[in-house]
Amino acid sequence: MKDHLQPWSVNADDFPESGYASDQLEFLLNYAILAPSSHNTQPWLFRINAMDVELFADRRRALRVIDPCDRELTISCGAALYNLRIAAEYFGRKYDVSLFPNPNLPDLLAQLRLGLSGETSSDDVLVFHAITQRRTNRQAFRPDPVPTELLAELESLTQAEGAWLSAYAVEEVRNAVADLVAQADRMQWADKAFREELARWVRTKAESHRDGLPVHDLGIKDWMSFAGPALIRTFDRGGGQAARDRELATHSPVLAVLWTPEDNAPTWLNTGQALQSLLLHARSENLWASFLNQPIEIPELRAQLASMLGLAGYPQILLRLGYGEETPPSPRRAVRELLVMHKTAHH
Ligand SMILES: Cc1cc2nc3c(=O)[nH]c(=O)nc-3n(C[C@H](O)[C@H](O)[C@H](O)COP(=O)(O)O)c2cc1C
Repeated sequence: MKDHLQPWSVNADDFPESGYASDQLEFLLNYAILAPSSHNTQPWLFRINAMDVELFADRRRALRVIDPCDRELTISCGAALYNLRIAAEYFGRKYDVSLFPNPNLPDLLAQLRLGLSGETSSDDVLVFHAITQRRTNRQAFRPDPVPTELLAELESLTQAEGAWLSAYAVEEVRNAVADLVAQADRMQWADKAFREELARWVRTKAESHRDGLPVHDLGIKDWMSFAGPALIRTFDRGGGQAARDRELATHSPVLAVLWTPEDNAPTWLNTGQALQSLLLHARSENLWASFLNQPIEIPELRAQLASMLGLAGYPQILLRLGYGEETPPSPRRAVRELLVMHKTAHH
């Protein structure tokens, strides 16, 4: 596999079973970094100590235009934390997690401390294997319905992590949500700052970067995909994007909103864990997901989405779910690039 995709080839057989806890933790990070993140910014850093690993927000990678409060950044880190938990469980390690363990260090989002060995349940195994199989799939999905029992299962999984999932298969609701997505696309693309930020993270030569959005993955099939960032920066293609997203949204069998009664950093971290729980369980059932967060990134439309759907809280993530074809993985930085301090001594 090419270098920028190498992290996806992590092999569970390489887990240092009889090694130091710190080496085991470092190995588990290979799974954490496969989490999704907005614009594939991978806004996380880790510090490994003798018996624990700390997860830090890397705010240098913040998206100031679409995500001025680091809401999506924190959600992305929550997804990485969930992968870390699932990997620890798979390798039979018990753990404790504290969120925001130090009120003086707002960038320290979580600490995962290893405990004694535990048991691996069969469910963990399926979900663990989904970590390397999951991708954001931006292709059109088949119209086949998603079983209601599966949706109910996803709802209870996200609730266990502290976020609510509301899923909609009814056509009128999907059409109304699709209209909001299209409106958001037009508003975002009309904003030069939005286009500049997107252009900074779009990669025409994906193989020479370990982060960002490979232009071919974006499903942009027109001339934009050849010219890339320069044209994204210059031209408002909001109309085209809106038409494409409306088509994708209305033709997906299910649209789903993850939402929370509150809207603050701890909630976002839980939302990220809920999101990843949903995405991994979905993948283990052969279901694909993709994001349509644009209306949630614009305060007026976020409020409109909540009231339209009657949600008693704040929409955090808008997804479409369905069955479809495979899609390639996106680049990742290697764990060694993400360690804030190298291990000094073993205890
Ligand atoms: C909080 C969050 C928000 C995202 N928002 C969008 C979005 O609005 N549109 C989109 O196409 N992808 C969105 N993504 C998907 C990322 O672009 C994707 O995770 C990243 O490019 C890495 O690719 P992968 O998920 O296939 O590993 C989002 C991901 C996260 C975690």
